Amino acid sequence: MNLRPIADRVHWLGVVDWDRRLFDSLIPLPDGTSYNAYLIRGSEKTVLLDTVDPPFWPMLEKQLAGVDRIDFVVSHHTEQDHSGAVPMVLAKYPKAVLLCSEKAKPLVMDHLHVPENRIRVVTDGETLALGGKTLQFVYTPWVHWPETMVTFLKEDGILFSCDFFGSHLATTDLTAVDRPRVYESAKRYYAEIMMPFRNVIRKNMEKVESLGVKRIAPSHGPLYDDPAFIMDAYCDWISDNVKNEVVIPYISMHGSTRKMVDRLIAGLVDRGVTAYRFDLASADIGKLAISLVDAATLVVGTPTVHAGPHPNAVYAAVLANAIRPKVRFASVIGSYGWTTKAVEAIASMIPNLKVEIIPPVLCKGDPTDADDKAIDGLAEAIAKKHREAGLTG
Ligand code: FEO
Repeated sequence: MNLRPIADRVHWLGVVDWDRRLFDSLIPLPDGTSYNAYLIRGSEKTVLLDTVDPPFWPMLEKQLAGVDRIDFVVSHHTEQDHSGAVPMVLAKYPKAVLLCSEKAKPLVMDHLHVPENRIRVVTDGETLALGGKTLQFVYTPWVHWPETMVTFLKEDGILFSCDFFGSHLATTDLTAVDRPRVYESAKRYYAEIMMPFRNVIRKNMEKVESLGVKRIAPSHGPLYDDPAFIMDAYCDWISDNVKNEVVIPYISMHGSTRKMVDRLIAGLVDRGVTAYRFDLASADIGKLAISLVDAATLVVGTPTVHAGPHPNAVYAAVLANAIRPKVRFASVIGSYGWTTKAVEAIASMIPNLKVEIIPPVLCKGDPTDADDKAIDGLAEAIAKKHREAGLTG
């Protein structure tokens, strides 16, 4: 795609990566992603905000063919999908200076090998006059690394937010016109990338809200002409509120654990609790992450393999621990052959989750009537906890 105007003398450029299906060799991207960069031409200075993932440098270089001068390149975030092509841009424009936060300076030197004499640190709140366009740099740590910052273009009220408010979505839409689709992609993005930093995000939200933002231009996914759409969603996701929902990632070897999962789901539904079931043999891990944004309870279903939990269940537990959802309760269910340490193992893998453990239910072999009753008891215990927490509907 060519440069696309988003405001007077402000252009989108970058890449829509339709084919990418995995990010960080971890995060599923069913709808691809984009790497957005932005060019702002003042009457005196020209600035490029962010770049693209290095393999796409030839596309960015082509877009820059008519741009004979760049004075500053802003690195909001060192990660390669935004700053990976910074060295190529600096080589193409030998007089350009890289602007970044204080914490980013050593990172861009380590990760991108940018020479120190090409870097200028900007301070939190510092402004830069380009001639009719004024940039303000705002430190927003942990969205998504410690060095991240955003840029506010004062005259146009545009917040260039990099990862913050982004969505992994490949689309020809420049702006978020397909709201349900963008909401889902942005929630997936939040769940996988931002959720561990929920409390810091709250402070960053307060900072950017004070700027008087009219539009948000992230570096993944479409722009937001209505900032309230995504900011309200973030306020909801980062709040301490949880919903009357149980997330059940499970794996089953011979069907016994699956029977327990289905019995639990039936018991929860009977008691007015919503359940989300994820078979870890085939589940979209991104959807599992999305469901964890709001849920009050996590129940891991695992059979026992050589006395411990199944490796797929281990993966789900470690993932949940890493993305730190605000779940309040957790439990384990599953079948074992002759002995098991599955519960102790799973419990040891989720230290980041500040949860109350509801007594687990394990059964030896295929579930019996007594095991079914124990599962019903777990459903009642979960529903009771939810009622006591004021969760209904
Ligand atoms: Fe889109 Fe944290 O990089």
